[in-house]
Amino acid sequence: MKIVRRIDELRRIAPDLPDLAFVPTMGNLHDGHLSLVRLARARARHVAASIFVNRMQFAPNEDFDSYPRSFDADCARLAAESVDLLFAPDEAVLYPEPQQCIVEPPAIAGELEGRFRPRFFHGVATVVLKLFNCVQPRIAVFGKKDYQQLHIVRAMTRQLNLALEIVAGETVREADGLAMSSRNGYLGAAQRTAAPQLHRVLQKVARGMACAQAMDELAAAGWRPDYVEVRRRSDLAAPQSGDRELVVLGAARLGSTRLIDNLEF
Ligand code: PAF
Repeated sequence: MKIVRRIDELRRIAPDLPDLAFVPTMGNLHDGHLSLVRLARARARHVAASIFVNRMQFAPNEDFDSYPRSFDADCARLAAESVDLLFAPDEAVLYPEPQQCIVEPPAIAGELEGRFRPRFFHGVATVVLKLFNCVQPRIAVFGKKDYQQLHIVRAMTRQLNLALEIVAGETVREADGLAMSSRNGYLGAAQRTAAPQLHRVLQKVARGMACAQAMDELAAAGWRPDYVEVRRRSDLAAPQSGDRELVVLGAARLGSTRLIDNLEF
């Protein structure tokens, strides 16, 4: 696996890697990421990944500084999956000057996650566009675990006529149902035992429980829920009567760890 840190180097080796599928990450890789890498491998001749912890998508009160970084272990895992190229730029490479050209995401970016992380999707959309322009893949793979992110990246790709296909990977779960996430590592032992409850309440909503009751159940068990909402899968708008393709999305804090999850039904 070739590790590339500079954009000019990436451009120089691009002709050697035609038909490229790309998995952007912030590192601290787990089996969820590796399932996206395998999906990429199944869809294209060559696979690239990136590791870049994007300051622009963290609010000042969030965990940018403490976000888990495990570069050597990540490289070993990617190499074991036969990834051809890892793009791992420093901040000064991707943001050599203050970023003034910023992607304005669609209005849905102000709802759900956006209500609690107001500029989050500006940061995500901007870095994803920059990474696409650097790596120039034919396909990019994103996990459904970050359902709203996937929706917004798809909208950006469509509306800005980007010449690539977005492919969605299913959420990978631990045996007890907890969705895999780099932030699960923040959980203490008791919190880790409690954490699958988020998935369980989403399952209950999918079976008919009201979202308000799901929030109450989480709160009664010591969580601080931000939202549990049912939306249409196609546009993440509130469902109208007769809509059948739905998704329930939830976010809640256990102690200081904020977890998100979702379930299509
Ligand atoms: O999902 C993530 O890990 C990040 O939001 C992404 C897409 C790599 C952009 O920084």
